[in-house]
Amino acid sequence: MTSHGAAVYTPTAKALHWTIVLLVTIQFVTALAMPDIGPHTQPDTWIGLHFSIGVLILVVMAARLVHRLMYPVPLEASQAPAWERVVALLIHRLFYLILLTGPLLGWASASAHRLTVSLFGLITLPSIAAPKARWALTAGDVHATAMWVLLALVAMHAAAALYHHVVRHDATLRRMLPVE
Ligand code: HEM
Ligand code: HEM
Repeated sequence: MTSHGAAVYTPTAKALHWTIVLLVTIQFVTALAMPDIGPHTQPDTWIGLHFSIGVLILVVMAARLVHRLMYPVPLEASQAPAWERVVALLIHRLFYLILLTGPLLGWASASAHRLTVSLFGLITLPSIAAPKARWALTAGDVHATAMWVLLALVAMHAAAALYHHVVRHDATLRRMLPVE
């Protein structure tokens, strides 16, 4: 790291970024494929996958946050207008916020619906809310809404990255690619 902070994303930061992109993409497929979760929902494969991959995302994001705090990287595109930099930073922080708290809200909802959460059937996790707990059922609604908001933010974030690459011809996208 230089006195100005590391100017580049470490290979680990890049690997974590693209691992999360892959996992979140698969996670939206499981969210759409699984049945609506209600009072009488029985566990099935899609639900099991949704819970497992969701918990995996939580774990990987926690590792990513620790890594990010250890190796802070300033934003690229120093010539960009101030408002763009503010929006970019805000979206990055929202990603951490939604991907670290959102899975816990889904987990609370699962517990309130008496559905067991496990990591691919290998490790069974405790239930974190009482059956039918009102707050946890509300948490499930917040969970779903937060994840659709996440998807909209991802679309803006990806569009901005491609805009920098194709229109502005700067290094923003390249610095996050495995090989620059
Ligand atoms: C970042 C990871 C996650 C994403 C992107 C995600 C995404 C979503 C989405 C988009 C929905 C709404 C589906 C629909 O409207 O039909 C949903 C619902 C749900 N998810 Fe997740 N999820 C994640 C993690 C988790 C985890 C870790 C759990 C449980 C351990 C979980 C449990 C649930 C439950 C129970 C519902 C139904 C909510 C309700 O209606 O009360 N999710 N998820
Ligand atoms: C689930 C989807 C995504 C999430 C959650 C996400 C999250 C993040 C976060 C939190 C950062 C800040 C740096 C860090 O902490 O590692 C970042 C940076 C970046 N992301 Fe994404 N990202 C996603 C998808 C994408 C996609 C699809 C692209 C490309 C088309 C992309 C391109 C970039 C670039 C180029 C940067 C570096 C920006 C800079 O430092 O100036 N991301 N992303």
